[in-house]
Amino acid sequence: MVFKQIILWILLISVVFFSFRVVYGLLVFMFKKDKTAMYVPSFNRHIRLMKAHLKLTRWKKLVDLWCGDGKAMRFFTEQFGVQCDGYELQRFPYHYGKLCNRLLWYPQLKLYKKNFLQADIMRYDYIYVYLLPNQMAQIESRIFKNMNPHTIIISNSFKFVIHKPYEVIKNIKWKPSIFLYKK
Ligand SMILES: C[S@@+](CC[C@H](N)C(=O)[O-])C[C@H]1O[C@@H](n2cnc3c(N)ncnc32)[C@H](O)[C@@H]1O
Repeated sequence: MVFKQIILWILLISVVFFSFRVVYGLLVFMFKKDKTAMYVPSFNRHIRLMKAHLKLTRWKKLVDLWCGDGKAMRFFTEQFGVQCDGYELQRFPYHYGKLCNRLLWYPQLKLYKKNFLQADIMRYDYIYVYLLPNQMAQIESRIFKNMNPHTIIISNSFKFVIHKPYEVIKNIKWKPSIFLYKK
């Protein structure tokens, strides 16, 4: 009986906490002046799709430009053994991400509380982005100009405006969901 109650409490706290994350993201998005991507971690359905279709090489380096709480980074390092760095500007996702990495024992993941414009993207073999279309358009020329020729960009849900993906991963409803780019 007590055990059941503990489980119910844990479930309730989890639901409240995860709803809070979504509400927080929405509020920040509504009230901030520039309409940059809000804090929404990659959805599990996209993570499952990437797990099924991507083949990343162990020990190579990945950067999540605007990494939120680092959910996608934890997936990439767990699934493919790549080394991940992430850049995030907002205080809550940054600190929450650091806490998750500590509690879930991902000491190797590096989160920087910086604008990604300060990242040296030449250093990375993979670049992961999950951003709104307007931001994709803003960063497109900068990323393609500065990335290495061998680097692969993995874009969740949204496409760049000018460049065409060399591969598109579709979900079970046949909707294009993950876009892969090279220079
Ligand atoms: C949609 S979330 C992506 C989260 C993460 N990449 C994932 O897939 O789980 C986008 C994040 O970008 C952050 N962001 C927006 N503009 C930024 C900037 N200029 N520099 C760093 N982070 C930024 C937002 O705070 C938000 O948490």
